[in-house]
Amino acid sequence: MITDEEKKKLIQIAVEARSHAYAPYSQYQVGAALLAASGRIYDGVNVENAAFPVTICAERVAVFKAVSEGEREFLAIAVATVNGGMPCGSCRQVLAEFGLETWVIIANREGRILHEATIGELLPGAFRPQDLPK
Ligand code: THU
Repeated sequence: MITDEEKKKLIQIAVEARSHAYAPYSQYQVGAALLAASGRIYDGVNVENAAFPVTICAERVAVFKAVSEGEREFLAIAVATVNGGMPCGSCRQVLAEFGLETWVIIANREGRILHEATIGELLPGAFRPQDLPK
């Protein structure tokens, strides 16, 4: 679990990151802030593309930034949108790779929390590294 202070900080960073979203097609700006076990926070935004399916979500940008810096354990992620939209299935799967206990905080653009759960609760029955035969 994380402290209320850490939670507030994550939400604030997600809300601020949202202003960097590249979403000229959907106009649905998403900001994310991921707290690694190291204590470092990685932000992310959605990056859309004229070839629509190439678009990547804010949550995955944050995870990929963190993993490429050597992080493998994540305590929590905050996601900020205009209306508190939930993480898509692909982002849930990417987060689940690194543990089912990561705390997911969904907020709106004012930073109001609309939903909280572990990634395990958001993706029951996730396919995990252990499911691959040795
Ligand atoms: N999006 C995210 O960034 N995260 C999600 O979990 C859901 C959707 C983005 C992708 C696209 O740029 C826009 O929101 C509309 O789908």
